[in-house]
Amino acid sequence: MPPRVAILAGCRTPFAKAGTAYRDLTAVDLAKACMRELVERTEIDPGWVETVVMGQVIPSVKAPNLAREAALGAGLPAACPAHTVNRACASATQAIADVACSIQSGHAEVGIAGGAESLSDVPILHSRRMAQALVEASRARSLGGRLRPFLGLRPRDLVPDTPAIAEPSTGLSMGQSAEKMAQENGISRETQDRIAWLSHTRAAAALDDGRLKPELCRIHLPSAYEVAVEADNLVRRDTTPEALAALPPVFDRKHGSVTAGNSSPLTDGAAAVLLMSEERASREGYEPLAFIRAWAVAAVDPGGQLLMGPGLAIPKALDRAGLVLADMDLIEMHEAFAAQVASNIQALESEAWAREKLARSEPVGRVDPEKLNVCGGSIALGHPFGATGARIASTLARELKRRAGRYGLLSVCAQGGMGFAMVLER
Ligand SMILES: CC(C)(COP(=O)(O)OP(=O)(O)OC[C@H]1O[C@@H](n2cnc3c(N)ncnc32)[C@H](O)[C@@H]1OP(=O)(O)O)[C@@H](O)C(=O)NCCC(=O)NCCS
Repeated sequence: MPPRVAILAGCRTPFAKAGTAYRDLTAVDLAKACMRELVERTEIDPGWVETVVMGQVIPSVKAPNLAREAALGAGLPAACPAHTVNRACASATQAIADVACSIQSGHAEVGIAGGAESLSDVPILHSRRMAQALVEASRARSLGGRLRPFLGLRPRDLVPDTPAIAEPSTGLSMGQSAEKMAQENGISRETQDRIAWLSHTRAAAALDDGRLKPELCRIHLPSAYEVAVEADNLVRRDTTPEALAALPPVFDRKHGSVTAGNSSPLTDGAAAVLLMSEERASREGYEPLAFIRAWAVAAVDPGGQLLMGPGLAIPKALDRAGLVLADMDLIEMHEAFAAQVASNIQALESEAWAREKLARSEPVGRVDPEKLNVCGGSIALGHPFGATGARIASTLARELKRRAGRYGLLSVCAQGGMGFAMVLER
């Protein structure tokens, strides 16, 4: 039998709206800080860590292997290898799965997994023609030769090229895709706003009563490093159903229902978890928060309903765990958009989805709203793409322990039509 993989601890930076608290930091800075804090808090010997895997969706061109830079910066030994993965918004859960595989296969006993994203520091590119002119000019030997490549440029070649939060194969933005799902699945504005309102009220409650506190670290800001960020800055304690209902739709201004209030915001942040084989954890005297029971990845056609991956990944992970939805004490579903959460819940509860997509006669099961995202979700807390999976895994493991629950399920939808699901157990 492969060793069971324990989640010992999780740590994340406070999440901040892009362009605010962390506007002068990079994803590496954020990842490094939370990784260092994770090591310090758990009092492990950094030399125990045999592998580090981190997720990032929009990497820096200067430090594309975020995991390695962050691990070195966090004080992990230079001998500890590290690599970065990109499974879009499911990158940190993929990182957790990769470290879990290393532990299960006996390649490592201790690893760190997580991810980071800085949407305040996305690479801004020149147009292709401008880039070609720059390269040509750099090779020229005379002043005339250096200037000539720029003569043929048109004003539009000077416009910077920023990364789009869109599906490359269809050109639709994530928000437009959520809008399409809301319309095709008949998800009402009221349903979406209710999910958003619950996300904010539950996140506020979990922050105020201290449930989320153990996962947060402080981030000292440059240049003096005297000011520290200690709390998420996106949770709105004043959110009301009326305020949400008054917001205009963003992605289909005429007929749409997806708004700034019921979408996850563009966010900066990092998160990481410490994983260890069960045997090593007990030898070192650590009490795990939870164990990884099973996981699964699935994908749908991105040209259809883009964010329905969890509807396939969840039953797959549950099957691998030998469990059913009703066995779950808690469910953490990443909230990219309220419309995506509602659409996936609808699919899990639908006979047609079971028959047509899963070749089953019975629906996957009912998602009990009282078990879902009990500490709030990505709409309220924010969604640094590469980090979210580690935030969710850490919150789920800790809350499962606090409630003395047995099983927990998490799911994340991702660009490319993918979905990731993982079952934790205690
Ligand atoms: C939806 C989106 C475009 C909104 O961006 P934005 O306009 O910068 O959002 P803001 O935070 O400024 O909110 C817009 C307005 O709504 C208001 N608002 C947002 N959430 C609210 C809430 N919960 N309650 C009340 N008002 C709210 C803001 O106060 C702001 O009002 P103002 O214009 O009077 O200042 C952006 O968050 C986005 O692109 N999200 C999707 C990210 C994505 O694609 N992720 C990938 C997932 S797969």
